[in-house]
Amino acid sequence: MTKKIAIFTSGGDCAGLNAVMRAVVVASHRLEWQVLGIENGTAGLLEEKPNYRLLTPDDFDATVMRLGGTILGTTNSRNPFEYKMPDGKVLDRSDELIAAFRDLGVDYIIGIGGDGSFGILNRLMKKGGLKFIGIPKTIDNDLNMTDYSVGFDTAVSIATEALDRLQPTAASHDRVMVLEVMGRDAGHIALTAGIAGGADVILIPEIPYTIENIASKIQEVKESGRNFALVMVSEAVKTPEGKKLEVVYQGGETRYGGIGDYLGMKLAQATGSETRVTVLGHVQRGASPTYNDRLLASALGVKAVDLVKEGKFARMVAWHNATVIDVPIEEAIKECRTVDIEGVLVHTARSLGISFG
Ligand code: F6P
Repeated sequence: MTKKIAIFTSGGDCAGLNAVMRAVVVASHRLEWQVLGIENGTAGLLEEKPNYRLLTPDDFDATVMRLGGTILGTTNSRNPFEYKMPDGKVLDRSDELIAAFRDLGVDYIIGIGGDGSFGILNRLMKKGGLKFIGIPKTIDNDLNMTDYSVGFDTAVSIATEALDRLQPTAASHDRVMVLEVMGRDAGHIALTAGIAGGADVILIPEIPYTIENIASKIQEVKESGRNFALVMVSEAVKTPEGKKLEVVYQGGETRYGGIGDYLGMKLAQATGSETRVTVLGHVQRGASPTYNDRLLASALGVKAVDLVKEGKFARMVAWHNATVIDVPIEEAIKECRTVDIEGVLVHTARSLGISFG
């Protein structure tokens, strides 16, 4: 029996979103099902004229699956329950959105998102009695119940490459280099790329630190005869006194930011070393996906279509123990999956002499 699926990307973008959509569209097309792509997250359906289009395998020709970003666009600030209108008013538009999905006549809705989006979407789909499947994507890799989310591997590769690029310039100038990476409340990017990129110090929100401990590690590095040090820090790391550092954007929206500069200043004072700070920011999100992210995107996209075939919904597809599984979406968003400080990566780092401050 033919089916109609709606798909959209939601929340912050990352590498691999087009590859996920390609997998869903190609696998659906082979079953002679239709896929409608909604523009700008679910917000496309709240425009005066609903903004969506039919997606076919031709839309994902030889080039598109290799591209970063999302051909459908996305947003992380269009919560239908608290929708900010152009005049500044905030409205609950959830009923309108549910009605718009019904008008599309779709059997299933597939959303590619992270914990923030899935929390909102799960509430929406339950309210509307709509059949929803989530595909996990986030560079932060903080969704529960999946070992990896699409986009993480690419972000880690970029952060690792940043350390590779900082190392020679650090060595040329006898400098301490601080690299601030994203990750929100989880230190996965900093920890993974820090090990892979040979950081001397890795600071993550899960492990408290002191400036003195970092300074003594830098001193130890100097005494070993090396003239530079690499310090990796995750954006959500607070000051040693517990102060959260943030930047405020237009409309009063806040994001983590500032810990790199803070540490740069403190470490220069504490060590007397020339110190420079690099904030990697959105560079971590905008790239052609790595082969790992393309494989993950393909496997998860196909699994989502399999779930439609099986008639399952309110599930998130996931990658666990080298295979695809599906889990209740509620479980996936129950809590933020932070770094396991007893886990293998922290143990590996410590055994390599990397300091957590
Ligand atoms: O959740 C993904 C992420 O890139 C975080 O790592 C980061 O804190 C945040 O999004 C940045 O958000 P925005 O794109 O709105 O600046």
